[in-house]
Amino acid sequence: MNNSRFLKACRREPVDATPVWFMRQAGRYMAEYRALREKHSLLELCRTPDLATEVTLQPVRRIEVDAAILFSDLLLPLEPMGLPFDFIKGEGPAIERPIRSSDDIDRLKLFEPRTSLGYVLDAIRQIQRELKGRVPLIGFAGAPFTLASYAIEGGHSNNFAHTKSLMYGHPDAWHRLCEKFATVVGDYLNAQIEAGVDAVQVFDSWVGALNPADYREFVLPHTRRIFEAIGRQVPTIHFGTGTATLLEDLRAAGGDVIGVDWRIPIDAAWDRIGSRHAVQGNLDPTLLLGPTGRLLDAAEDVLTRVGGRVGHIFNLGHGILPSTPVEHVQMLARHVHSVSRRIG
Ligand code: CP3
Repeated sequence: MNNSRFLKACRREPVDATPVWFMRQAGRYMAEYRALREKHSLLELCRTPDLATEVTLQPVRRIEVDAAILFSDLLLPLEPMGLPFDFIKGEGPAIERPIRSSDDIDRLKLFEPRTSLGYVLDAIRQIQRELKGRVPLIGFAGAPFTLASYAIEGGHSNNFAHTKSLMYGHPDAWHRLCEKFATVVGDYLNAQIEAGVDAVQVFDSWVGALNPADYREFVLPHTRRIFEAIGRQVPTIHFGTGTATLLEDLRAAGGDVIGVDWRIPIDAAWDRIGSRHAVQGNLDPTLLLGPTGRLLDAAEDVLTRVGGRVGHIFNLGHGILPSTPVEHVQMLARHVHSVSRRIG
């Protein structure tokens, strides 16, 4: 397993072809996923190890991916902290009683992931048994800013008005909240590693809403604590979107691999991140909708810009969209392998 393309690239070792996987590689764009979702809610899929295992393996069977990602959701730790939520069709997540005050933050519970999220850890063990070493398994969790944004806004937000109001108006409360998230996420990722994941990705999907100074003041120390809690047990990926102005600061917070979105060319991003880190990215997921000529050219452009640097993991800049044709994803993965073999 340690000789897999994906783990080698995380460690910046040479590979025979660029490893590829896709954020949201399991999901609604696949007929076999939609078939399961007709019978089960998203939370049932996440909470039932047999189902989470099946969904994790669906893209591994259909697409030439070099890694599997645990099928789960970023928001699962909110419930044992005392913030129940549900997914509403067509709207996304809805937290029942979002955090608005300092008292709400004091009431949030720390918890033992081995009991409260034991079903995720059972899924990891079952997935590893069924993967039989075919590809490595990536575990994941959310970073404090992105988790706080859901806990405070109650769902998705365009401007993060409540989140930033708490951050600017009550910095002590904000830091106490992020400390709790950092503790919970550090414990949770350590439990995932103990259960057998081969790498972990920390998703700070919405942190690009901040400027660099605010990132350093309000977020960086908390995210850094998560990476420190993991240490060097497995490779770590630090991902965000809209982070073109934050790359040096994301690197400083931690991660062996820095995830980059499509708003910045990957070579410009890598020059800023520096050659001591691996880089993951960065195709615009909407290119997968077609036309395929443009899709394949854009993938080739990413590989040309990488120019044979060691430590590139091909991915999208964010998740696969539900309307994506599966054949385009299959074609893209094959193309990345064959072009990167050719250009070396
Ligand atoms: O990447 C994978 O294949 C693994 C599965 C995965 C899911 N959620 C399953 C899911 C991962 C890695 C996540 C992480 C996640 N969850 C993030 C961070 C990644 C990102 O996209 O930035 C976030 C912000 C969430 C919270 C969340 N979950 C939202 C905002 C939504 C609704 C958005 C939507 O696309 O409808 C979800 C639902 C969700 N989680 C789906 C999947 C496959 C949608 C599919 C469904 O309803 O069946």
